[in-house]
Amino acid sequence: MNVINGKKIAQNLQASIKLKVDTLDRKPGLAVILVGDDDASEVYIRNKENACKEVGFYLEIINRFDNISQEELLFEIERLNDDDKIDGILVQLPLPKHLDVNLVNETISPKKDVDGFHSENIGKLMQNKPFLHPCTPKGVMLMLESIGVDLVGKNCVVVGASNIVGRPMACELLNAKATVTICNSKTKNLSCKLIQADIVVVAVGIPKMIQSDWIKPGAIVIDVGINRLDNGCLVGDVDFESVRNVAGWIAPVPGGVGPMTIATLLKNTLTAYEARI
Ligand code: GUN
Repeated sequence: MNVINGKKIAQNLQASIKLKVDTLDRKPGLAVILVGDDDASEVYIRNKENACKEVGFYLEIINRFDNISQEELLFEIERLNDDDKIDGILVQLPLPKHLDVNLVNETISPKKDVDGFHSENIGKLMQNKPFLHPCTPKGVMLMLESIGVDLVGKNCVVVGASNIVGRPMACELLNAKATVTICNSKTKNLSCKLIQADIVVVAVGIPKMIQSDWIKPGAIVIDVGINRLDNGCLVGDVDFESVRNVAGWIAPVPGGVGPMTIATLLKNTLTAYEARI
């Protein structure tokens, strides 16, 4: 069993982005909008802020109270769409319930959509002509590439069908010519699907749901879950301690996919910058 060091892979990616940024006159600019004071979102944003500083990006963090109206938020996004210093716009999710996430994502210019959630970017990914990729699935792809996995013809099972992770993840794997099964909360006999998988990606938000007897010996297991237990511990959707004895490779939580998501956000911002100059 090998543990995938997502932190190290992300650091290498960030180092290569920094080398590129050092040669640029104008620095790539990222705007992050945070609505309200969700604790987890604040932690994610702090991590994004540190990563932007490390690579030398220009960063604007825009904090708004959770009673911001839909119109005010869309107006803010439109202002950033027209701001030449800004190459990438990210609205941290989840948003308060009175705000329409879909409308927010569709208002961000597809050229500055560094989360890759705009229907134009999702459509391009579906057609295997990607521009800006959703960060977490792309981060998983970069992780698999860095451990040298050949995905062609491999049986991949994605557990979870969210717009942010599961669906685009399945699409990325399909584009890499893997055979993909997408499971959701209504899937019957999940364990029968999982036991056949060469590669398993789990993003369901249920602590330690995936047990070792569901995993084929030698399989690659990528855990996208981030769950905080009542005792304060951070755990994934995979029971790491048991699955590590069966899997060939396993991405831990924390220190696995999380840092890759942030490195991919930086990569997307550089891609958006390069497309605008
Ligand atoms: N909240 C949790 N994951 C994400 C993500 O990938 N992008 C944004 N904008 N918010 C998130």
